[in-house]
Amino acid sequence: MADPLVILTERLAPAFAAVRDAACAEAGTDPATVPAPPTVRRSDRADFQADGALPLAKRLGRNPREVAAEVQEAATAALEGLVAELELAGPGFLNLTLDDGAVADLARRAHADAALDVAPDADAGTVVVDYSAPNVAKEMHVGHLRSTVIGDALVRVLERLGHTVVRENHVGDWGTPFGMLIEHLVDVGEDTAVAELSVGDLNGFYQAARASFDGDDAFKERARRRVVSLQAGDPETLRLWRILVDQSTEYFQTVYDRLGVRLTPDDVVGESAYNDALPAVVADLDAAGILVLDDGAECVFPPGFTNRDGEPQPMIVRKGDGGYGYAATDLATIRQRVDVTGAERILYVVGAPQRDHLEMVFAVARMAGWLPDDVVAEHVPFGNLLGADGKMFKTRAGTSVRLVDLLDEAVDRARDAIAERNPDLVGEEAEAVAAAVGIGAIKYADLSSDRVKDYVLDFDRMLAFEGATGPYLQYAHARIRSIFRRGEVDVGTLTADVDLALGQPQERALALALLGFEGAVRDTARTSQPHRLCGHLFDLAQTFTSFYEACPVLKADDEATRASRLVLCDLTARTLAAGLDLLGIAAPDRM
Ligand code: ARG
Repeated sequence: MADPLVILTERLAPAFAAVRDAACAEAGTDPATVPAPPTVRRSDRADFQADGALPLAKRLGRNPREVAAEVQEAATAALEGLVAELELAGPGFLNLTLDDGAVADLARRAHADAALDVAPDADAGTVVVDYSAPNVAKEMHVGHLRSTVIGDALVRVLERLGHTVVRENHVGDWGTPFGMLIEHLVDVGEDTAVAELSVGDLNGFYQAARASFDGDDAFKERARRRVVSLQAGDPETLRLWRILVDQSTEYFQTVYDRLGVRLTPDDVVGESAYNDALPAVVADLDAAGILVLDDGAECVFPPGFTNRDGEPQPMIVRKGDGGYGYAATDLATIRQRVDVTGAERILYVVGAPQRDHLEMVFAVARMAGWLPDDVVAEHVPFGNLLGADGKMFKTRAGTSVRLVDLLDEAVDRARDAIAERNPDLVGEEAEAVAAAVGIGAIKYADLSSDRVKDYVLDFDRMLAFEGATGPYLQYAHARIRSIFRRGEVDVGTLTADVDLALGQPQERALALALLGFEGAVRDTARTSQPHRLCGHLFDLAQTFTSFYEACPVLKADDEATRASRLVLCDLTARTLAAGLDLLGIAAPDRM
C-alpha cells in the first residue's frame, strides 16, 4: 500500500466512526443509518484535506467544527508518524500535512517493489467484462472502437488489482440478417465471399446483400426461408453461416492485434452461443409468473419502466413470430455468467443508447432471481465520437468510417511527426514507434474524456506532443529514459535503500504525485472511469516537468542528491509506463 490518500482514508475511518457512534448513542439513533466516510482529497492548503465532518455533522444535526475537532482528537494516535500536522480549518475541514520522512519511506517502498507497492484489492473477485461486440459481416464502427478501448483498459486495471477477469466478446452472430447474408454468400460464391471478408470489406459485402434483399423479391423469399433453415439447424446452412462467422472473427482479430488489446478468438462468446438456452429463458419466466402475452409477443413488464406517456414498457422476450429477441439472449447470458462463470460483477461496455435495454434486462433478471442481490450488473455507457463539425463521425460520403482507416491515418500522421522530431529513428524501430504513438494517441483521446460524454475526434489535437495527449505522456516517459542513457545510468543499480531527499518543494510534490498512482488505479476500477487514471498520469507528467526544470539530476550538486533524484526519475518512468500499460498504451524508450 503506497498511496497516502488510501492510507489516510483507512486510518481516519475509525475516528469518524467513533465520533458518529458516540453521537448516535447519545441521540438514540442507529449508527448503521449514518454513513461517516472521511472523504479525503488532495488539497492546495496542505497535502490532503478530509471533508467528512461536514456531511456527518449535518446528519447528526451538530456543529461541523465541533465534530471535526472530535475527529481530530480521535485520529491523532492513528496518524502518528504519518502526519506531521493535523489542523482544523474553515467550517470543519481537517487539513493534513504528511511527515517528510513518511513520504520518503512510502516512495522508497514503491521504488523497491516491482508492482510499485500497489496491493491487490482485498475483495478481489470474478468480474466479467462484456466489450467490443461487433457484428458479423458488418464493419466495426467507431462505437465498437470505444467499447473495445474502454473495455480493455478496465480489464487491465481489474486484473492489476487481482480480480479474476473474464473477457467476453458478445459478437452479434445470429438473427434475421443472416438469411440475407447467407443467400448473398451463395450468390457470389464462397471463394469470392471469403476473399472480400478476409480483407475486411465487410461493408461492401453487407451492402450488396442488403441491395439484393431490398430490390429482388425472389431473393427476399430465399432469405426468409434461409432464416428458418438456420434456426432449424440445417447442416448446410450452418456450414455457410460458419464461413461468415469465421471470416469476420478472423478479421476482427486483425483489428484487435493492431490495437494491441487483450481480446483473443477465445473470448468470442457470440449471441449464437446462447441459442439453446433461449427456450428455458421463456419457460422459466413463465414459471415465475412474470411472462405476459402482449399483442402476440411474450413480454415482461419490469416495474418502473414506462414510456413517454407513462405507460408500462414491455421487454420483449419472444416476438409474435416465435423468434427470440436480443433481450432474451442477454437474459440467457446473465444466467450463464452468474451460474457457470461465477461472476460477482458484470460490466457491460456498451454505448449509451442501449441504457434502457440493459437496465430492463437487469431488472428482469433480478425479478426472475437470476441476478442475486450480491452480484453487480453495471452498464458502462459511453457517448458518441463526433467529427470536427460536431456531428456523428462519418466519412465525406456519409457512411461510417472504417476503424482500420482511422488507425491508418493516426499511424501515418505519427510517422511524419516522429520523422520530423527525431530523424535518428529509422527502420523497424521508427515503424514500431509510429504505431505505438498513433494508436496510443487514439486510445488516450478516447479514454481521457469522461466516457459518457460525446467527444470530437481531432487528429491534430490528439497527436500533439503538448497537452493531455498520449504522445505527451509517452514522450514524458521516453525523456526520462534518455536521461539515463545520457548519464549512462544503469537503473538496475539504483538501490532501494538510497536516502530520498525531498527538501526541494518540487521533489516533495513529485513524490506525492507518484504515491497517488495506487489511488488512481483503484478509483478507475471502482468507477469504471479510465479518465481518472489518465488525469492522474497527466498530472504526474506535469509535476515531473516542474521537478526537472527546478532540480538538476545528472548535474546535481552532490552524489547523494543525484542518487535520490535518479530514483525519483526511475520511479516516475516506471509509473508512467505501468499507467500507460493499464490504458493499453505502449511506452517506447525513445521517440
Ligand atoms: N453487438 C451489439 C452492437 O453492435 C452490442 C452488444 C453489446 N453486449 C450485450 N451483451 N448486449 O450494438
